Amino acid sequence: MLPWIVSTLVLAIAVGCGEQEDWSPLNGAWDPNDPRAQEILQAPEPGSPIDREMAAAGERWYRVRGCLACHPVEGRDAAGPAMAGITQRRDYEWFRGMVMRPDSMLREDPIARELLEIYRYPMPNQGVDELRTRAMWEYFRKVDGT
Ligand code: HEC
Repeated sequence: MLPWIVSTLVLAIAVGCGEQEDWSPLNGAWDPNDPRAQEILQAPEPGSPIDREMAAAGERWYRVRGCLACHPVEGRDAAGPAMAGITQRRDYEWFRGMVMRPDSMLREDPIARELLEIYRYPMPNQGVDELRTRAMWEYFRKVDGT
């Protein structure tokens, strides 16, 4: 009985912490001009270990931001493509462009234009910042096992 209560409590605390909206890998306020911040925002080296904390934050934001409504992670496409495999079919630069400024990508980028031909619906701008975009990429590296 007691171990059950303890594990439930631990789980509740873990889930509670998981809902924290703010995740800063640096102490204090997030400053994108901080050199250490610049380092975090870089595309990860292929095959480098996954930053689990960043991936968890990325998953949280992916859900909170409503990306899931149009992009299931696994399984069949919805309004937009399912996301599994995204780290294999695109590189980080492209992903970042599509997440942060889909409007200009849909105008100028050949792959994005091809997607628009298929899905026939322009992905609306999501107003996601660079840190969150990078964290979502980490989440998909985890999903894809890359
Ligand atoms: C209202 C629906 C909608 C929402 C919400 C949405 N997208 Fe999209 N997204 C699309 C569509 C549709 C496409 C395909 C290109 C097009 O037609 O604009 C797309 C394409 C993409 C692609 C390229 C996929 C590939 O296979 O290359 C990425 C990456 C992406 N979206 C990320 C996101 C993220 C991250 C969010 C949440 C912050 C998000 N999208 C929210 C509709 C949406």
